[in-house]
Amino acid sequence: MSTKNQFGKNGWTLELMKSQKGKTFVITGTTSGTGYEAARILLSKGAQVVMLNRNPKKAENTLAVLKQALGDGIDVLSIEMDLAVQASVKKAAKEVINSVSKIDALICNAAIAQVPKRTLTVDGWESQMGTNYFGNWTLQALLFPLIEKSKGRIVTVGSMGYTMGIKTINFDDLNWEKDYTPNNAYSQSKLAQIMSMYELQDRLKEAGKTDVKTYACHPGSSRTNLINTSGSAMTKFIFNLMKLSPLVQSAEKGAYPQLMCATEPNLDQSGFYGPTGFQHFVGPVGVHKLEPHAKDKTVAKKLWELSEKETGIKWNL
Ligand SMILES: NC(=O)c1ccc[n+]([C@@H]2O[C@H](COP(=O)([O-])OP(=O)(O)OC[C@H]3O[C@@H](n4cnc5c(N)ncnc54)[C@H](OP(=O)(O)O)[C@@H]3O)[C@@H](O)[C@H]2O)c1
Repeated sequence: MSTKNQFGKNGWTLELMKSQKGKTFVITGTTSGTGYEAARILLSKGAQVVMLNRNPKKAENTLAVLKQALGDGIDVLSIEMDLAVQASVKKAAKEVINSVSKIDALICNAAIAQVPKRTLTVDGWESQMGTNYFGNWTLQALLFPLIEKSKGRIVTVGSMGYTMGIKTINFDDLNWEKDYTPNNAYSQSKLAQIMSMYELQDRLKEAGKTDVKTYACHPGSSRTNLINTSGSAMTKFIFNLMKLSPLVQSAEKGAYPQLMCATEPNLDQSGFYGPTGFQHFVGPVGVHKLEPHAKDKTVAKKLWELSEKETGIKWNL
């Protein structure tokens, strides 16, 4: 793949983002990190933003902080949604559909990471798979009709962690009853998120529904609450040390890939987007290499079928 960045040597930056007046974005996980920054930036560009968060108190605080920063006139809605609970995702999706007339982009940003002990969601999945993957799967499928009507986009925030685990889906033991490690389970959930975007692209193409665009991206290594929220004491210690190094960037920069994928007009859906510098931790934002296991068609198809079975949700394609 050519290393030339289509946006020039500085990659995609905020200067490239035009006014977003008249557009509606739905973003998961805006109480901190890249999701907060994405919401703040889109609101500052005049967009309507629907924030989906699990913690009502934190959501209320985020709303207050955004209003303080950008003024009371911002067009922002807050809906409660816990991605780890399918019933909550279904309820939130209904509320979104009843609250807005269109969705220009759904940004699936929220996640948990490196959960030290194997735990299950109320629906019975390993917590990272249940939250990061099945939660988003259901949200995307239920919002798809409105996204389609809006000729909108689905943007998934993945992670370079997709290359750091077993590099496939553990179909024989999806919930890690044997050999649970925080890293393998996180990696599987992020790989599943990324794979499903490219599989969805193929299915949309087959169905002739090419007005909807889907993108996979990642924030590199960004100074956020991710590890502090769900990681072990050791991973917190390591990541908090790393945060002091130049190999970790601001949460705002970490939001650029998702903002680019949600707004940039001519972006190739087959690419994987993120920082293009050292180890993809930091650097100019653009397209970069995706390891072939993320586009393994046999695994992707099997994962899609499994997801329909596990969640009982079928996409209206
Ligand atoms: N930071 C990095 O270096 C890095 C690297 C690779 C990938 N990523 C990815 O970047 C994305 C954003 O993470 P971040 O780094 O900005 O972390 P963050 O600061 O922890 O933000 C994560 C957001 O997701 C929300 N969330 C967590 N579980 C949820 C649930 N069950 N339902 C609804 N919302 C939930 C959090 O809400 P609460 O406030 O309630 O916890 C928070 O708003 C994630 O997809 C992550 O995997 C980050």
